[in-house]
Amino acid sequence: MRRTFGNMTKAALLLLLFPLYTQAQLASKKQMQQLIDENMRFAVKQYQVLKDSTPADKMPRTFQRGRSLSSGTDWWCSGFYPGSLWYIYEYTKDAGVRAEAERRLSIQEKEKRYTGNHDIGFMIFCSFGTAYRITGDKKYKDVIDTAAIYQITRYRPAIHAIQSWNKSKNLNCPVIIDNMMNLEQLMWAAQNGGNPKFREIAVTHANTTLKNHYRPDHSTFHIVDYDLNTGGIIKKVNGQGAHDTSAWSRGQAWGLYGFTMMYRFTKDKIYLQQAQDIASFLLHHPNLPADKIPYWDYNAPKMPTSRDASAGAIMASALLELGQYVNKKDRKEYVDAATVMLQSLSSDAYRAKLGENGGFLLKYSVGSFLSNSEVDVPLTYADYYFLEALARYKKWYL
Ligand code: GLY
Repeated sequence: MRRTFGNMTKAALLLLLFPLYTQAQLASKKQMQQLIDENMRFAVKQYQVLKDSTPADKMPRTFQRGRSLSSGTDWWCSGFYPGSLWYIYEYTKDAGVRAEAERRLSIQEKEKRYTGNHDIGFMIFCSFGTAYRITGDKKYKDVIDTAAIYQITRYRPAIHAIQSWNKSKNLNCPVIIDNMMNLEQLMWAAQNGGNPKFREIAVTHANTTLKNHYRPDHSTFHIVDYDLNTGGIIKKVNGQGAHDTSAWSRGQAWGLYGFTMMYRFTKDKIYLQQAQDIASFLLHHPNLPADKIPYWDYNAPKMPTSRDASAGAIMASALLELGQYVNKKDRKEYVDAATVMLQSLSSDAYRAKLGENGGFLLKYSVGSFLSNSEVDVPLTYADYYFLEALARYKKWYL
C-alpha cells in the first residue's frame, strides 16, 4: 500500500514536474529567440545610422567624443563592418542591408593582396567568407583564395610561424596571439580546393603558438618575439595588456576562439583540450564580473576598471562553438555563460539606443587601455562577434 502510494506520489510528482521543466526550458529558449530577433531588427535601423556616418570609400572604426571615425580599407578591422552587414542580412533578409554589404565589399576587394601584416584573415575572411557562406557566389570565394596565397608570404620557416607585424625598433619578428584568428582563412581555403600548404602552415603556426605563447595556467602572452636567424625566442611581452605576464582579455578571447576553430577543421583533440583549458581559465577567474563581460585585462592594476565588450562578444561566440564539441555537462557550462554574456551585451548597460553611439550596436570596448586609445568606445569587431554569437545561438541552440 505504502509502496503503491509512494509510487503514485512519484508518478504524480513526475507528471507535475516534467511539464514545468519543459516549460522552463521553452521559456528560456523563447526568451533567447526574442532577444536575438530584437537585436537583429534593431541592427537594421541602427546600421542605417552607421552607414550615413561613414564616407563611401571608407569603413567605420569607432565613435568617440561625439565624432564618428572611419578608416581606410587597409586597417585590420575593415572586414568587420561588411561582415556584420551580412549577418544582419542573413537573419532579416533586408535588401538595403545587403546592398550596403555588397557596396562595401566592392571597395574592400583590393585588400586581397595585402601583406603589410598578418591581418588579411580578419580583413578578408570575416567579410568575403561570411558573404560566400550566405550567398554561395563564387566571386567571393575567388577573393578568399587569392588572400590565402598572399597570407602565407608571411610564413617564416625558421620559427614555424606566420610573422604578425614587421620588424620594429623593439621587436624583431613578433607573433601575436591574435594571429590564431587569421588561420581560419587558411584552413577554410585548403578545405575548399586550395593549396594543402595553407593547412600545413596554419597547423604548424597553431602548434608553435600552443608551445610558446601559453603559460601553465592557460593564459597567454600577447607577443612572442622571435629571432629569425636562430629560430629562438627573444622575449615574451605585452602589447595591449596591463603588463608582460597579465591576461589581456581580448588576447585570451582570440586564443579561445582560435583553438576552437582549429579543432573544427582538424578534430585534433589537443586543440579541443587547449580551448577547454582556456575556457576554464576565463570562466572561473575571480576577476570575471557577474555579468561575464570581462575587464580589459584580467589582471588590470586597478579594479573595477573599464570593461571590454569586444572580449565578451568574442568569448560568447567561441563558447557557443566549443559547446558543439564537448559533453553535455561542459556544453551546459559554456552555453549558460554565453547566454549571460549575450543577455548582458543586449541590456542597456552595453547596447546603444537607436540613433546613439554613432550607429554602432555595442558601447564600452577597449582598444588599448594603457595607450589611452579607443577606451570605452564602440568597435566594429565587438558588433561583429556579437552578431555572430546571436546567429550561432539561433543555429545551434534554438
Ligand atoms: N588585433 C588587435 C586587437 O585585438 O586589438
